[in-house]
Amino acid sequence: MAQVIVVIGAQWGDEGKGKIIDLLAEYADVIVRFQGGSNAGHTLVVNGEKFVFHLIPSGILHQGKRCIIGNGVVVDPKELLEELAGIKKKGYLKDDSQFLLSEEAHLIFPYHKIIDQGRERINSGKIGTTGKGIGPAYEDRASRDGIRVIDLVEEEVFRRKLEENLAQKNYYLSHVLGEKNELELEPLYQEYMRYGEKLRKYITNTSLFISQQIQEGKKVLFEGAQGTLLDVDHGTYPYVTSSNTVAGNACAGSGIGPTQIDEVVGVTKAYTTRVGGGPFPTELHDEIGEMLREKGGEYGATTGRPRRCGWFDAVVVRHAVRVNGLGGLAITKLDTLAGLKTLKVCTAYEVQGQEITEFPASVDAVARCQPVYEELEGWQEDISGAQEIAQLPAAAQRYLNRLEELTQTPIHIVSVGAQRDQTIIHHNPLVN
Ligand code: IMP
Repeated sequence: MAQVIVVIGAQWGDEGKGKIIDLLAEYADVIVRFQGGSNAGHTLVVNGEKFVFHLIPSGILHQGKRCIIGNGVVVDPKELLEELAGIKKKGYLKDDSQFLLSEEAHLIFPYHKIIDQGRERINSGKIGTTGKGIGPAYEDRASRDGIRVIDLVEEEVFRRKLEENLAQKNYYLSHVLGEKNELELEPLYQEYMRYGEKLRKYITNTSLFISQQIQEGKKVLFEGAQGTLLDVDHGTYPYVTSSNTVAGNACAGSGIGPTQIDEVVGVTKAYTTRVGGGPFPTELHDEIGEMLREKGGEYGATTGRPRRCGWFDAVVVRHAVRVNGLGGLAITKLDTLAGLKTLKVCTAYEVQGQEITEFPASVDAVARCQPVYEELEGWQEDISGAQEIAQLPAAAQRYLNRLEELTQTPIHIVSVGAQRDQTIIHHNPLVN
């Protein structure tokens, strides 16, 4: 049994991590976000009620669990406060000690969003970012210009840093992006001071807290955002997000050591989707792609954009298995595939007559890759009520077995519908 586990996305994000994390959270004491920001969107359906979280860990709906935003997350305090208020309004988070915010996390400011959106405008939406200011905020962290959560409680320090930043950003906004309006210090300073006051009760040394919890034997679940192929190093660069989404970053993004992690689970859809620009070898531009989008409800939780859809790509997931050290998979949305006569799975790529089985580093090389497909028999039955693998049609079982073989990774969990109980838990790493 594992005490500390990391759950990450094994494709291009939107794998259905929210639901899997929500399920596993029942068996954890502490749930931690370690990277990304409100570019993430986790949709959950609990008792028929739909929740979308962008910043707060999905575990917040479980009473008594401690939910943490770690130092590696870039935090938009306005969005965070709105999310907290929304959760409270629905009757959750009655005890404020349930939520903790790292004092070392970096803050997002309006100029980050204006820069993010302005650059997309200039580049004709090349990357297709969520426009939430995530990239520019991480840039400020790397260039040592960032303003952190801890600065919100030190008014003079905060004012000085904001003043320095505004001088730089206003210059960039007007001279590079051609923005007409300058951002003013005083209203922004006042606004962020108000956020600081409201957030103060949550701000703490979360690295210390998590370490103490681990020492006390508590179970910790690290919740990844986005997906492996969106990782700034291991993804389809430059069509990626600006943080490391891989499991290894659970350590740097929360302040614990790698020796403390026991198990890593990768979440992958039974097919593939992607939002935004960039190569996608198994993308379908036909009626099957359309069917997956409509039946699977494949529209972005953060931006509402239609997701690009395609067949399961074992090259992608094998890559994710390696760079994350995955010990098991959670397969989601298997039910969406019902009704298709034949299913295809990409086992390798063909480039200039040669077959390759590893994901290329260059996106131009990926764009030249033709998927090599294997065909499997589909199933017609509705599987959304299945509670065990044995209750699935034989063709669905064969499909899962093949995914295990191709990825050389055992399947721990299979999701067959949006509700919590529409899940087959074959192996729960936090229990056995
Ligand atoms: P950014 O993270 O907003 O900078 O966007 C960079 C790329 O990551 C774009 O292609 C986005 O569509 C993608 N992206 C960011 N967050 C998510 C997510 O949670 N799910 C899927 N794609 C995402």
